[in-house]
This record gives sequence, C-alpha cells and structure tokens, in this order.
Amino acid sequence: MFSYHSKSFPLLIKREATSHGLCLYKTIITSTSNLKKGITEQTDFNQKACNPVIPIKKEPVIKVVKVYRWDPDEPKKKAFLQKFEVDLNRCGSMVLDVLHLIKAEQDPKLAFRKSCREGICGSCSMNINGVNTLACITKTDRNTQKPLIIYPLPHAYIIKDLIPDMSQFLEQYRKIDPYLKRPQEKNLIGKRQLLQSERDRNKIDGLYECILCGCCSFGCPSYWWNSDKYLGPAVLMQAYRWIIDSRDQASVERLFKLRDFYSVFRCHTIFNCTKTCPKALNPGKAIAELKLLVSGVMNKEKPDLETPMKDQCSKEEKSSKCS
Ligand code: SF4
Ligand code: SF4
Ligand code: FES
Repeated sequence: MFSYHSKSFPLLIKREATSHGLCLYKTIITSTSNLKKGITEQTDFNQKACNPVIPIKKEPVIKVVKVYRWDPDEPKKKAFLQKFEVDLNRCGSMVLDVLHLIKAEQDPKLAFRKSCREGICGSCSMNINGVNTLACITKTDRNTQKPLIIYPLPHAYIIKDLIPDMSQFLEQYRKIDPYLKRPQEKNLIGKRQLLQSERDRNKIDGLYECILCGCCSFGCPSYWWNSDKYLGPAVLMQAYRWIIDSRDQASVERLFKLRDFYSVFRCHTIFNCTKTCPKALNPGKAIAELKLLVSGVMNKEKPDLETPMKDQCSKEEKSSKCS
C-alpha cells in the first residue's frame, strides 16, 4: 500500500508484511534539498520504534549532453554545440530535468521554454537525438556511451539557444479562426447549450487533443520549404477539427479560404508529422480527409442534432440550418 504525505517534505510510505507477521512501514523521505544533493534518505520503522536516518549515496552516472547554443547578444559568434557533463543521479528522469540541472549549476544563460512539465502546454518542444518531441515527457537514455544531443525545432528561426520563433506558426493558427462559428446567431456562445450527438462528438476525438507544440509542422519537409504559404500539419489539423464539428456553421467559408494551390495541397502524405507527434495524434490522416473536403470529393455530414434557434420576430425557437 502506498500513501502520500506532504506536510514538510514529500513522504512516500510503503506498507509491507514481514516474515514474522509484523506490519512494517518502509519510508522514503526525499526533501527538495536532498534531491539536489543526490541523496535519498531511507529508514525502516515499525509502529513502536524509529531508527535513525541513514543516507544512501548513489554512484554518479555521467552523461554527455550536447546542446545547441546561439546568443542574439553575440550575433557575430556562430551557433555551436556546447558539451556538458551531467550526473543523471542528481536530476529527474526526463530530458527537461537534465536541462534544468545544467541551467541551475553549469550555465544560467541556457535558454529553453517550458511550463507544465507534463506534456500539456506544448512549450518544451525541441529536437532530441534527431526527433522532434517534448523534453518534459522524453526519458533520458541512461546509456552513458551515447551522448544526448539537443537542438531546437528544425528549420525554425531561433530567438535564443533552444527557443524557436513561433510567431508565424501562431499567426497561421489565428488565420483559421480556431473557434466555433455560427454566423446566423450572434453572441450565442456561452449563453445556451449547443446540442451534439455522441456520434458527432466522437468525430473530433484525436483532433482536439493537439497542444500546438509544433513538432509535426517543424518536422514536415513541405513546411520547411513553403512555411509562408503552406499551413503545415498542426494548423491544418485544427482547421479540419473546426470544419467537421457538427456545431460549427462556417464550414463553407472555412473550406473556401483553404482552396488554393499551397494552403493544403503542399502536403505530400509522407506522414513525418504523424510519426513525430508526441501526443500520438494523426495530422497526416486529418489532412488527407481535409483534402477530400476542400476538393469537393466529400461533403460535411449533416449534424445528427440541431440546436433550435430563437426567432427574433416571434421569440420562438426554430431549427437552425447548418452549412
Ligand atoms: S499534432 Fe501533435 S505534434 Fe502536431 S502540434 Fe499537435 S500535438 Fe504537436
Ligand atoms: S504528411 Fe503532409 S503534413 Fe505530414 S509531414 Fe508529410 S507533407 Fe508534411
Ligand atoms: S513543459 Fe509543457 S509540454 Fe513540456
């Protein structure tokens, strides 16, 4: 049995039955400062007596970490890979923890983005050992023979070190109007319930979970070469997400905006995007389905349920038409 207690420090209690039938409490006490020192204090005690704390020192596991560095304050100095040596026993198991330790103890000027540290915010996307992914959910390989190599997202303009400039990516996202649109009903959102059948709701599964980390777009060769005109997998998947939402009534307008040579059709269905997505989503498939809608081969299905609309004259509810 495990229980968690955190009055003064994190306390993990494991209750074990001993061979002589006594109930033993095995307690691992790990204070924040001890974590930093790489020391885990461990004590066993039963309900009657408590033995003194015995610190256990772990052997260092030294990993070579090579990190891309570029400083805008030194524009004449070329970008380079800086080598660090990190004891993996002195930090958490993820690549983001390694970067934190380097920043805390070796180079406070090292710049990288992060926020949630659990794969939710999408800030810590970077290229780790050749793969675009999130540093906070990528485990550090404890094999000390292989270095850990960290670059920023490829083909992105760099603000500093591991921080890519996401302005264009976010501007493209803004352009697809990533919100529910019901042109016939003004000021409706948040005021009353919009009906949606379970079947229609299931259509946006695997799409709405995108955290806009950009790993897919910055791993897409078409986006590398045409990022000014081609919207890229992340943004296109979100465009598709709003187009097929049964509550949205602007699909005709949305599809019309995408009907050109570059916005969608620069995708060559190579699926680099799907392979790299750290949230296991499938932007390649979403784009393939979006192409069918944009080209008119397929039409958006009628919603199973329609939300009745207030008639402005009679004040009665009438059925709304969905495009
Ligand atoms: S589809 Fe995946 S890789 Fe692309 S932005 Fe969304 S979460 Fe990131
Ligand atoms: S499938 Fe399309 S969007 Fe995905 S990587 Fe290939 S070209 Fe880019
Ligand atoms: S810090 Fe939020 S996804 Fe990694």
